[in-house]
Amino acid sequence: MRSSLPDFPWDALAPYADKARAHPDGIIDLSVGTPVDPTPDFIQAELREASNSPSYPVTAGTPELRQSIKSWAVNRLGASGDFDVLPLIGSKELVAWLPTILESSKVLIPEIAYPTYHVGALIAQAESIPVAIDADLWPAADLAWMNSPSNPTGRVHSVDEIRKCIEWSRKHSAVLISDECYLEFDHTATSTSIMALTGGDNRNILAVHSLSKRSSMAGYRAAFMVGDSELIARIRELRKHAGMMVSLPVQKAMTTALSDEQHVAQQRARYNARRDALRPALEACGFTIEHSNAGLYIWCTRNEDAWVSVDWLAQRGILATPGSFYGDKGKNNIRIAMTATDAQINAAVSRLMAE
Ligand SMILES: Cc1ncc(COP(=O)(O)O)c(C=O)c1O
Repeated sequence: MRSSLPDFPWDALAPYADKARAHPDGIIDLSVGTPVDPTPDFIQAELREASNSPSYPVTAGTPELRQSIKSWAVNRLGASGDFDVLPLIGSKELVAWLPTILESSKVLIPEIAYPTYHVGALIAQAESIPVAIDADLWPAADLAWMNSPSNPTGRVHSVDEIRKCIEWSRKHSAVLISDECYLEFDHTATSTSIMALTGGDNRNILAVHSLSKRSSMAGYRAAFMVGDSELIARIRELRKHAGMMVSLPVQKAMTTALSDEQHVAQQRARYNARRDALRPALEACGFTIEHSNAGLYIWCTRNEDAWVSVDWLAQRGILATPGSFYGDKGKNNIRIAMTATDAQINAAVSRLMAE
């Protein structure tokens, strides 16, 4: 299995990072989507407060955390009917391990996607099948991923598109999991959680959320899933045996983070202002922006091979990600992350406008 894992794609970017670093004013790294804005003070304080933690944490989450996830799922996502919740050690581990935990043999993944969906299928020795958005065209499978707003494209699924995915799940009695880790970052589109559209029948439906971006807590490793109670019970059982539990101080910090929406609105405004600043500068340099209606990224193209665009930007000290990292369909696009400081984004705008 190990030999079938792809080379870590970011290694291929290293020579372009070197080139960007050689710019007289230094590199502006807009490649990896890792948050740089500080974790809000009240969350840091809760973590510090919880640092005396001699006992093992519970895999299912503390009663307080479980309740705060449930309330958030009802109030923010529009969840209804019977559903359960489960804290995760960041959402990437779930993406990588869910096909193994569910013993899936055929996994549908978006044709332009976060690479870990494919990696998860490989780890499970399952077949991964890239599919377009329209679920009417999906083949039978036992697990399907959807991701809205999308990494890398920033595209938002319409309500009709999500309903078709749910219909597919019901028709095939197959698990449908919606990765909604960018749901809080709407810009020019409104995203809807799958949990709002099940009509309270959550069989085979899961949604995964992360505090990495919502609350700038990527270093804490804090995420959770909501959805089908029976499925979550199965997943919880395996995770109990495997020791896959979120640390207690992090569970307490998560509980506090979920109780506040103001810091999320502030973070959303920051990312959207950065996108508004970069968009015209990129267009002035000949890039066409596609989708990019929500999330953390600008997805754009100059109708040339992605590596040519990456090289052109690297000469200007700006590091972007080639769209080919996200599937063959992205080979003429690049992804630019809003996870840099305002000063760095402004400097990137100045460098592009100087062209
Ligand atoms: C679509 C998507 N899902 C999941 C993740 C994993 O995030 P985390 O493990 O920080 O929750 C990422 C990270 O960038 C992502 O882009």
